[in-house]
This record gives sequence, structure tokens and C-alpha cells, in this order.
Amino acid sequence: MSEPENKPQLEELLAQSNKPTELDPTAPPILTIDNLEMYFPVRSNGVIRRKIGDVKAVDGISLTIPKGGSVGLVGESGCGKSTAGRAITRLYKPTGGSVDFQGRNLAALSTRELKPLRREVQMVFQDPYSSLNPRHTVGAIIGAPLRIHNMVPKNKTLARVQELLEVVGLNPEHYNRYPNEFSGGQRQRIGIARALALQPKLIVADEPVSALDVSIQAQVINLLQDLQREFDIAFLFIAHDLAVVRHFCPEVAVMYLGKIVEIADRDTLYSRPNHPYTQALLSAAPDVKQAAIGGRRERIRLTGDVPSPINPPSGCRFRTRCPLAQEICAKVEPPMLQIGPRHKVACHFAGELGNHPTDPVTDRLLGVDVNGNPDPGASPVELDDKPGFGDVWFDLKARTTVKP
Ligand SMILES: Nc1ncnc2c1ncn2[C@@H]1O[C@H](COP(=O)(O)OP(=O)(O)OP(=O)(O)O)[C@@H](O)[C@H]1O
Ligand code: SF4
Ligand SMILES: [Mg+2]
Repeated sequence: MSEPENKPQLEELLAQSNKPTELDPTAPPILTIDNLEMYFPVRSNGVIRRKIGDVKAVDGISLTIPKGGSVGLVGESGCGKSTAGRAITRLYKPTGGSVDFQGRNLAALSTRELKPLRREVQMVFQDPYSSLNPRHTVGAIIGAPLRIHNMVPKNKTLARVQELLEVVGLNPEHYNRYPNEFSGGQRQRIGIARALALQPKLIVADEPVSALDVSIQAQVINLLQDLQREFDIAFLFIAHDLAVVRHFCPEVAVMYLGKIVEIADRDTLYSRPNHPYTQALLSAAPDVKQAAIGGRRERIRLTGDVPSPINPPSGCRFRTRCPLAQEICAKVEPPMLQIGPRHKVACHFAGELGNHPTDPVTDRLLGVDVNGNPDPGASPVELDDKPGFGDVWFDLKARTTVKP
């Protein structure tokens, strides 16, 4: 549904109070996710419930989050964003890959080993209605993590709760009210105060503003930005809409059916996306001006639903909905290729909108012909699929590796 013309857009509202968060390229990573997998078993009906497959909700994603920085994770409903967030914060135990948080692999730790680290990695949930227990007062909700982790002496808990309420812009005297006495935006502030109670270094915010009106969205995003600056907190900010993460995240990863398909710095991703899926998401976002995709009028429309993660399409998972798909796309999975200083994309025909190549850019690297069949004469290249960005990349135009 398109927004009425005179309704203030999220980006305008955000720009009124805070500048967009900038990338600090010198910040060391606080979190490195390498090939993270989260599969859920699918079992047969009946008495003996045999495993008959897997829901491959997250299927090998890699990225880094800089200390005190924020990375956006976007994609349509069902692509695995929340599952990724839950696997990172160990609400789920990942079935593969690693989650390095300050030198410790969260994915491999036992529950006991995890306890001290849980403080440092917190999650804020989408639904401010269901994520707060309606029978507990706000004071009890925010005070619970303080008590469990012995953060403050018992007689200081109330003072700390009130301080936290103030930090998130709520009246500290309202600690003995119940969640249903607050609006949606205020409840989300309560959820944020609860996450802040433990002074985390990283917050995974899972669609923290999706349930809110656009003006309240702007207030909550501005609050997160202020908190990030004040307390040096890193964020993985999950959203289904590219417009929502643009202001807060100088780096954005786009996810489709369990995989990251493109990841780049803000300017590159919004003005020169190279993956047809990112281009389609941008075409569909009412908040992102057309100028954002080079001012061109071409649009890629997304049709159909996201396929099931139990049986994802062979080769490129986007091929069943991709207007550019060719034979190679069904046969070979496109590798995640770094194509600029801070730009990676997984597409055989990566290119700017209206300027995609007619031949695949990946065939020679992968040792296949243009149709994706093995090419005995080719010499495949060992592709670097490490998280983050390297200092050499593949130049799409020259079709060679470049090192500036
Ligand atoms: N506990 C589970 N058991 C089995 N399948 C699951 C489980 N949790 C999620 N899934 C499946 O994994 C896929 C990804 O779900 P997920 O909730 O992570 O998507 P999402 O990107 O967060 O979507 P949304 O935007 O709707 O929140 C979906 O197909 C979902 O049905
Ligand atoms: S690899 Fe093929 S199907 Fe996948 S996005 Fe690129 S062109 Fe489309
Ligand atoms: Mg979700």
C-alpha cells in the first residue's frame, strides 16, 4: 500500500533530530558470524516420528558487526531474520557455523558457560504487546534481569529501574504500572530499558519498530541512536523494510530464504544495488525515493511467495522469482563475491539496475561454462568467503581481481 503524499516519511522525521549513523571503518568487530546455520528438523507423523528433512531457516550466513556500530538485516517475511537473531543470542543453539563474540564462540558454549555472556548480548523483540508479561509491573519486568544477574544490591534495584526508565524517556514514577497502561511506543521503550539493564555490548533488535506508527518509529529509532552513542552499544537491527534501517545502519545485509544475497555500505546499497532482489525491495519501498536507485524508472517487481526453506530451489534460491534467471542459476549456487571495498553480492549476473551483464560474471571463477556445466578447460579460483570485507575484490567490469 502506498503512503499518502502529505504524510511525513520516516526518513524526513528521522533527519529532523539526528544525523544518520556513520560507519567507523577502523572499529574492530565485536561480533563475527561465520557460516551460521540454523536448521529445524521436520518429522513424520505417527508414533515413530522419523526425521524426514530440515527447515533450513538460516543456511550459512556470514557478517561482522563493528564495536559500537550497527548493521541492518533486511528481507521479506519468512527469510530467516528472527531465526538468525535468535541463533546469535543463543535463544536457539545454532546447528552449524560460529558466532565469535569478543573471542568466544557463542555457538559452542554450554548453558553454564554462556551465563556471563548473556548479559552482554541482549535482544529487543518486535511485538511490544506480547514480549512484556501483562501481570508484572514495569518495575518487576526491568528489575528481573538486574536480580538474576546480581547487577545491583537488592535495596538499589528500584533506583536503578527508575534511572533506566528515565534513560528511555519514560516517567520514572511509573515503575508500578502494568504494560497495558502504556502505548505501543512506550512499551517498546520498556523492552529497551529491560535490554539496557544489563549494560550489553550488543543488542539484536528484531523489528523493534515494525508494530509502531511512523512518527513513533522515528522516536524509537532516534532513542536507539542516542543510546548507541552514549553507551557504545553495537546493534544488529532486523527489519523487513529497507527504509527503516537506512538512517541507523551504515551497513546493511539483505537476506533471502536463509542466505545473505547482498551486503554493502549504505551509500552503495541504496544507490547502486547489484542484486535483483535488493533492487526489487528498493523499488517496492515507498519511503526510499526513486533517486535512491540511480533516479531510474525501471522497477523490478516481486511476484509470488518466498519458496519453502524445506526444499529451497537448486542453484540460486531467488531464481524462481528472478526476472534475470538463466540456465546457470538453476545449476550452480552463486558465490558471495566481494565487488567493491565494502560491497558483496551473490548473483551470477550482478550489475546495476538496467545494466546487468548478459553473460555470467562468475562462470570462470567457478570453473563452469556460461550455462553452468562443468568446463574442463577452466581453472576455478579459490573464492574467499570469510565474513567482513577483504582488501582485494573482483572488479565486475574488468572481470579481474583488483587491489587498490
Ligand atoms: N522453531 C521453528 N521450527 C521450525 N521452523 C521454524 C521455526 N522457527 C522458524 N521457522 C521457519 O523458519 C523460517 C524463517 O522464519 P523466521 O521467523 O526466522 O523469519 P523472519 O525473516 O523473521 O520472518 P518475519 O519477517 O515474518 O518475522 C520460516 O519458514 C519459519 O516457518
Ligand atoms: S543468480 Fe540468477 S536467479 Fe539468482 S539473482 Fe542472479 S540472475 Fe537472478
Ligand atoms: Mg521475524
